[in-house]
Amino acid sequence: MLAAILRDSDAAIFVCERDGVLLGFCTVRIDRAPSIQVEVQRAEITDLTVRARERRRGVGRALVERALVWVEERGVERCEVRVASRNAEGQRFWRSIGFDDLMDVLQRRL
Ligand SMILES: CC(C)(COP(=O)(O)OP(=O)(O)OC[C@H]1O[C@@H](n2cnc3c(N)ncnc32)[C@H](O)[C@@H]1OP(=O)(O)O)[C@@H](O)C(=O)NCCC(=O)NCCS
Repeated sequence: MLAAILRDSDAAIFVCERDGVLLGFCTVRIDRAPSIQVEVQRAEITDLTVRARERRRGVGRALVERALVWVEERGVERCEVRVASRNAEGQRFWRSIGFDDLMDVLQRRL
């Protein structure tokens, strides 16, 4: 997965480390649609994880803010993230940094 991100100019990974220890990481990518569509590009944060004992210290926020700078630098004006409805921690985190509801994703198990 990491190698694929590093090869792809439309994807990036940001890491937070201290003394060589990984505290958290965030992956982001830009999706492009055919120019016939109204919105031709958007970004998606595809992963964000902070080591459990390092949470609530601003690492997650800093990683996302850095990723959003990368997105903006590419002229993309919107960024999405998929967060599970039952991920209460994640829901509170994303809302606290300015993300809000876009659509509900429904599923049926087969
Ligand atoms: C979600 C996650 C990335 C947040 O990382 P973090 O470094 O703890 O987040 P921050 O410290 O930057 O928090 C920023 C703000 O988000 C909110 N927040 C974060 N975690 C929260 C929690 N457990 N409960 C309530 N609010 C929370 C707070 O408003 C917080 O600001 P504050 O600490 O000043 O009150 C981390 O909890 C995590 O890795 N969770 C497991 C993986 C996951 O769910 N990833 C997201 C998948 S979409």
